[in-house]
Amino acid sequence: MWLRNCWYVIAWDHEISSADSPDLFTRTVLDEPVLVYRTQAGEMVALEDRCCHRHAPLSVGRREGDAVRCGYHGLKFDAQGRCIEAPGLAVVPPKACVKRYPVAVKNRWVFVWMGEPEQADTALLPDNFSCDSPDWRNRPGYLHYDTPYLLICDNLLDFSHLSYVHEKSLGGSTRIAQARPEIESVPGPSAAWPQIGIQVSRHVNDVPAPPFYQRFRRFDTHLDRWFVYQFLLPGTLLMHSGGRPTGAAPDAPGPSVRLHSCQTLTPESANTTHYFFQQSHPVGEGDESVTESIYNSLIGAFNEDRDMITAQHRNIQRQPDRPMLPLAMDAALIQFRRLLEVRWRAEQTVLSPAPLSQPAISA
Ligand code: FES
Ligand SMILES: [Fe+2]
Repeated sequence: MWLRNCWYVIAWDHEISSADSPDLFTRTVLDEPVLVYRTQAGEMVALEDRCCHRHAPLSVGRREGDAVRCGYHGLKFDAQGRCIEAPGLAVVPPKACVKRYPVAVKNRWVFVWMGEPEQADTALLPDNFSCDSPDWRNRPGYLHYDTPYLLICDNLLDFSHLSYVHEKSLGGSTRIAQARPEIESVPGPSAAWPQIGIQVSRHVNDVPAPPFYQRFRRFDTHLDRWFVYQFLLPGTLLMHSGGRPTGAAPDAPGPSVRLHSCQTLTPESANTTHYFFQQSHPVGEGDESVTESIYNSLIGAFNEDRDMITAQHRNIQRQPDRPMLPLAMDAALIQFRRLLEVRWRAEQTVLSPAPLSQPAISA
């Protein structure tokens, strides 16, 4: 179950070729194949990757200027999705068109709006500033999951798993699991969106530096660590994290680690998910080898997550209706799921006034 009236990241901007390239980029979002390309003026265009004639993917056709010609029987569509040429027909049928999605690019993330186009609001785009900032350095990443996106949201909303899933990478101390996070709501940008997510703050003091930190800076003392992040609809994490020698003031000189991470989940289908991520470090704190080391650590850790969540999903599929046991550590993910369900129900009410009898959100 997913929201439609919101922005989903479909790609990093470097994945979309320039206008003079013959390549046509396609990726599936919410079970809809979407074609993305740039016009010669540089505008990003997103069209349904399904020709209105016999449903062939337009992405196996070809670019003709700012238009795309279907590779099956040759219908040609402009950047608005209108058919402007139908070989063998004197008149193009008025119904011949493909769906066009609102698209936005912000700090290297390419977003598509999968719901009603008139509701698309760029004020809802997340502040993924460190993806493209002169003050921060990162290497962009992408992973594909064969699990529902909500299970990955759950994972990102409960960092107690760092102590166990990431014991030898990001975690390094069981104290992370023992620390109780503070959870607050994040207001939305308008009356239509009174809440857009939740903020989770977790401080863990006097713990050994995790193996991840030791890879790019040597620490001989214990650290005070922090993780402060917003998790926003439909599935974006924006996080400040770091560590400094135990007892040191926040602005004290000396060795410390400061990171900013932007991660976002886009459902590909009911059981598959796109995961876009980066973890940035300040430009003045480490060179390219540090950037590379952080990226490699992240890939290693995210594979640990993926292995666990994939195995969890396999178990859930065996007995989908078997209840789980809610525990205190689930507070953030339960709040997020409630928020998602409220928005989902509101969307269903607009789309279909019939009363709802089924719970909206399940793994
Ligand atoms: S399927 Fe595209 S022109 Fe026939
Ligand atoms: Fe994790």
